[in-house]
Amino acid sequence: MPSVTPSREFFATRPGFVLAAAGSAVGLGNMWRFSYQAAEGGGAAFVVLYVMMTFLIGVPIMASEFVIGRRSGRSPVGAYRSLGGAVWVPVGYLAVLAPLVILAYFSVISGWTLRYAIDAISGFSAEPALRFAEISSGPSAVLYHLILMGVTTAIVFRGIRKGIERVSLILMPVLLVLLIGLVAWAYSLPGSEQGYSFYLKPSFESLADPSVIKQAAAQAFLSLSVGMGVMITYASYLDHGHDLSQEAVSVSMFDFSVAFLGGLVVFPVIFALGLSGEVGASTIGALFISIPAAFVEMGIVGQVVGLIFFFALLVAGLTSSISLLEVVVASFMDEVKLSRGKSALIAGAIAAAVGIMPANSQSALGIMDKVASEIFVVAGALGSVLLAGWVLKDPLSELRTGVSSFFARIVPGLMFVIRYLAPAFIAIILWFTVRDAIA
Ligand code: PFF
Repeated sequence: MPSVTPSREFFATRPGFVLAAAGSAVGLGNMWRFSYQAAEGGGAAFVVLYVMMTFLIGVPIMASEFVIGRRSGRSPVGAYRSLGGAVWVPVGYLAVLAPLVILAYFSVISGWTLRYAIDAISGFSAEPALRFAEISSGPSAVLYHLILMGVTTAIVFRGIRKGIERVSLILMPVLLVLLIGLVAWAYSLPGSEQGYSFYLKPSFESLADPSVIKQAAAQAFLSLSVGMGVMITYASYLDHGHDLSQEAVSVSMFDFSVAFLGGLVVFPVIFALGLSGEVGASTIGALFISIPAAFVEMGIVGQVVGLIFFFALLVAGLTSSISLLEVVVASFMDEVKLSRGKSALIAGAIAAAVGIMPANSQSALGIMDKVASEIFVVAGALGSVLLAGWVLKDPLSELRTGVSSFFARIVPGLMFVIRYLAPAFIAIILWFTVRDAIA
């Protein structure tokens, strides 16, 4: 067992770990961000690239972070320091900064989700694009953001993981079932075909478009919660019985399924209900415009399903927010030796303050999202594969510890990607990003 303090010991069972990691991975990124990125990235080409990024590069990055976390038994700064030495400490700090930034604007979007859950009770607006414009920025968006930050901070402050884990244990499958139901309903809509062809028929030119490749990689990594210390921190609570490759594949499958199903609802609905104009005007709002429009069409049933849907999404968002705040709090506790309570209050207050900006301006939100996902997350992911592939002693033995005979077969391939393919690929992506930013 890695040397973790008893208060940090966490996962007794395999499902406990997989669900916590999946709880972090599955969130607003899968539904809100995936649909808006796919809309912006031209639909199907983006989706194909996203799938490739998730399984070819994302799984190896996640496995690297599991290796780093389990080997070190520490949160990111300590993990990088103990395994890589002082040179690596800045990468650890990046893993504290990035979650703070992401938490700040994710909380704004969770605020929108809460708002829609409340709307469901009184009935969704028949003008979904107008409604979105109304609630997405300004004083009420700030208020809802602060409420959500308060809830997140309170949960992490008290260290109650059991409550939220239990709730997500129920609501995650509920979200999945509702999604499948919505997929079937969307399929029945006249005019949905155009949505499917936008979402599922790739044009081959865009497959080679560097900016779409870059966006798809950032989306895959953000959605998997890699590059931000979360998986390192969670894996620091793992024992040697866990099969790291299998866990990485399971979490990624779960994460991918939710995003993919979400797209199977959002795009047919957008096309069938003629919402592409509205969505085009605010791609950030793609999900929040199309889904309520679907519920309005369903009448009273839509209100009930809508309430459950947005509530489940809220919980999915909350489990991700908790993991983001937890990394920062664990790092404050480990590095500055603050108590859990103080760390939570300070980190929560910083994220709440930073979030006021995106709550007032959708373009600020878009910029924060771009910088965090395309630079911080990608740089963090590069750090993870380099450390696991090149600095850590005998990473292969860590991957082989606890491995099942089935997954033992993919370990050499995984290691190859971790050492060569992933670092080269991620470095190229980062280069494109920097080049575009300069231009
Ligand atoms: N993966 C989460 C989502 O898709 O919503 C967002 C997220 C959570 C990113 C935790 C990073 C993280 F560390």
